[in-house]
Amino acid sequence: MTESQILNLFSDFVKIQSVSTDKNRFSEIEKAVSFLKNFLLSLGFSVKILEKEKAPPLILATLIKDEKAKTIGIYGHYDVQPEDPVSEWETAPFLLTEKEGKFFGRGVADNKGHIVENLFAIKSLIEEKKLKNNVVFILEGEEEVGSVHFEDYVKEAKDVLSKVDVFYLTDTGMHQKNVPQIFYGLRGIIYFELIVKIGKRDLHSGVYGNRVYNPINVLADLIAKIKDIKTGKILIPKFYEKVRKIEKDELLLLKKTLKSNEEEKKEAGVFGLTEIEGFSSLSSKIFPSFDCHGIISGFIGEGQKTVIPKEAKVKFSFRLVEYQDSKEIEAQVFDFVKKNLPKEVKWDLKCLSKSAPFYTDVKNEWVKKTASILKDVFGNEVILNRSGGSIPAAEILQRLYKKPIILTGFTLPDDNIHAPNENFDSEMFFLGIKALERIYSF
Ligand code: BES
Ligand code: MN
Repeated sequence: MTESQILNLFSDFVKIQSVSTDKNRFSEIEKAVSFLKNFLLSLGFSVKILEKEKAPPLILATLIKDEKAKTIGIYGHYDVQPEDPVSEWETAPFLLTEKEGKFFGRGVADNKGHIVENLFAIKSLIEEKKLKNNVVFILEGEEEVGSVHFEDYVKEAKDVLSKVDVFYLTDTGMHQKNVPQIFYGLRGIIYFELIVKIGKRDLHSGVYGNRVYNPINVLADLIAKIKDIKTGKILIPKFYEKVRKIEKDELLLLKKTLKSNEEEKKEAGVFGLTEIEGFSSLSSKIFPSFDCHGIISGFIGEGQKTVIPKEAKVKFSFRLVEYQDSKEIEAQVFDFVKKNLPKEVKWDLKCLSKSAPFYTDVKNEWVKKTASILKDVFGNEVILNRSGGSIPAAEILQRLYKKPIILTGFTLPDDNIHAPNENFDSEMFFLGIKALERIYSF
């Protein structure tokens, strides 16, 4: 197995524009599925494709070495985020490009690079006849749109998945170069789309200003009521009711993950930072949050136009922490929107997806062994951490199959996931394969 073999496969995979949120590129989702299926077949796996109407399929690939051996589940997602804004990319988004020690391209970090690492770790173990464990790949194609069908899919795959002894999810990153992490917590997420309509057509703002509602102003008012941007607090009644208080022990553990403000500012490329109750970095891990992701309405062309648009649309989400219940939060949000929008406007609020927060025990043999291998390969102690990001599969697999879930990954904090110039440090990429080979062969 050579580096160029690995990079050829990586490059062919990145070429496939498997953007799950774009219905017009569904054929690319199908391409990614047959691409992965063929490779897994070539490794000797038996491959099952689970399909639901119009949803990205789940790939379930099994290699049984010995009925009595341990079975390792390996999760990844083959779908990627949209590549926009394209003009901000310094390389072509779907062309794997190596530059200054990094691989660039949409999905290289999140999560195609990690899938390639896993495939080649297993391939090399097979070729060197070192694979003793059974392996199940669970590769989904709708993680970036909330894993809406994942629970149904993995329930369907109960025969295979109930035999898995441990699930590895390599869909996170390292603390810094050569400093590996294992995550024991992720936030959940609930995602909404809201349209506000004031009438049938756009209006002249001189003729109608003060006499009609302006849907942009209405949305701005609602958004401001949801969250106080000075304190960071979400103002929806009972929103924090079930939030678990963080005990001293955990805070002490998390203190080890803190970075300086300067470092975080640099990593994020921002002019300044915000925080909740003085918790600096931990603010985005241990508290829920609210963010708008896009707002569309009215005139956004060059120059000026005095219009009151007839409608405005916003996309927003809440990140949730344990023990918040996404169904309860959904009801609270509906209620809040209903109470706070003027009676005279028409509105439509849709919940696009919801997933529960994930929290797990790391006191088990699998974590211990994994951590010691990671330390050995990268030369630094593993940091136990929580992430503010979400991977719905983690909570679903844990709840349904009750086996250890190990969340790790090899990208760096400046990997630009979901943004232009997404990248994967090449040294960490190849060391990651080495680490996985050892992890999967113990
Ligand atoms: N790999 C990320 C999750 C992640 C990001 C973990 C950063 C740790 C650090 C994953 O692909 C992702 O982006 N998930 C989405 C899920 C959502 C669309 C349901 C997210 O967190 O926005
Ligand atoms: Mn992602």
